[in-house]
Amino acid sequence: MAIQKVGVVGCGLMGSGIAQVSAQAGFPTVVRELSPELLEKGLKGIEKNLARLVEKGTITEASRSEIRGRLKGVTAIDELKDCDLVVEAIIEQLPAKRELFTALDSLCPPHAIFASNTSSLTITEIAAATKRPQRFVGLHFFNPVPVMKLVEVVKTIATDPAVYEEMVNFGAKLGKTAVRAQDSGGFIVNRLLVPYLLDAIRALEEGVGSVVDIDNSMKLGCGYPMGPFTLLDFVGLDTTYYISQIMFDEFKEKRFASPPLLKRMVLAGWHGKKTGRGFYDYADPANPKPMSL
Ligand code: CAA
Repeated sequence: MAIQKVGVVGCGLMGSGIAQVSAQAGFPTVVRELSPELLEKGLKGIEKNLARLVEKGTITEASRSEIRGRLKGVTAIDELKDCDLVVEAIIEQLPAKRELFTALDSLCPPHAIFASNTSSLTITEIAAATKRPQRFVGLHFFNPVPVMKLVEVVKTIATDPAVYEEMVNFGAKLGKTAVRAQDSGGFIVNRLLVPYLLDAIRALEEGVGSVVDIDNSMKLGCGYPMGPFTLLDFVGLDTTYYISQIMFDEFKEKRFASPPLLKRMVLAGWHGKKTGRGFYDYADPANPKPMSL
């Protein structure tokens, strides 16, 4: 059965982006957040993005109205009961995700497909909280979701091949390039990205170069859109720390181990751009000041 209606749980940075691209792609989309305040914050972000698209002439005023008409923000989980696909983008904590999917499992019709946007948790373990692990995949999007062209479609040993193909097609319908990945810690992107980011921190700790010089090296020498420290601040140091711990736990390899500096910064509450301070200080957002060791 083709996907008619999409549910998204979580309207934070990732969930709001997923809901936006789903509604833009023509799917009636219900996005659920826990509180009206958080929901409003997420929906405001979508409004801002749509306004930018209208300003640039990417979409017309009429299509913005249609997109808005397809998008419904809710706080009650019951509103997801007739969705054919539910994509979860809530906090990266296994118990919270398992609890959510257990509730969705009894609420949604048997044909509904479930997907998690987790970047690091094992899809198999989340899927095991439901009675439909064969209808469960990972759909890992990238920040900012409306801009980044990739989605990793993650298959577990239990995923039904037909469900998997349907999800690969769904990724393409959202205008993304869907890559196929196995349910291995960090999938494809974080398997490569996380050791790179951690190595940049190790290079800084060892005095190989400064924050700005390391950033400029990768930006100008390799054509990366952002240097590793700018990217770390963008992704969130707490998020990177958390992912590295999960990956280290899975592979027991040094390259996934968190450098002491990253741990200290997380403990100090320096989580990157969102807290105003990470490897750069964003007191003046137009002119971030690099950290010096
Ligand atoms: N939401 C929506 N659109 C946005 C946006 C946002 N948050 N930020 C920027 N854009 C749009 C802009 O409107 C602009 O659109 P047009 O080209 O149509 O005008 C376009 O993106 C480029 O923006 P800017 O010119 O302002 O800035 P930029 O050229 O520096 O691009 C960027 C911004 C796309 C974020 C770019 O810097 C980039 O690609 N950075 C790397 C991002 C990245 O690596 N993301 C993956 C992180 S890892 C992850 O998400 C997974 C994980 O598991 C940790």
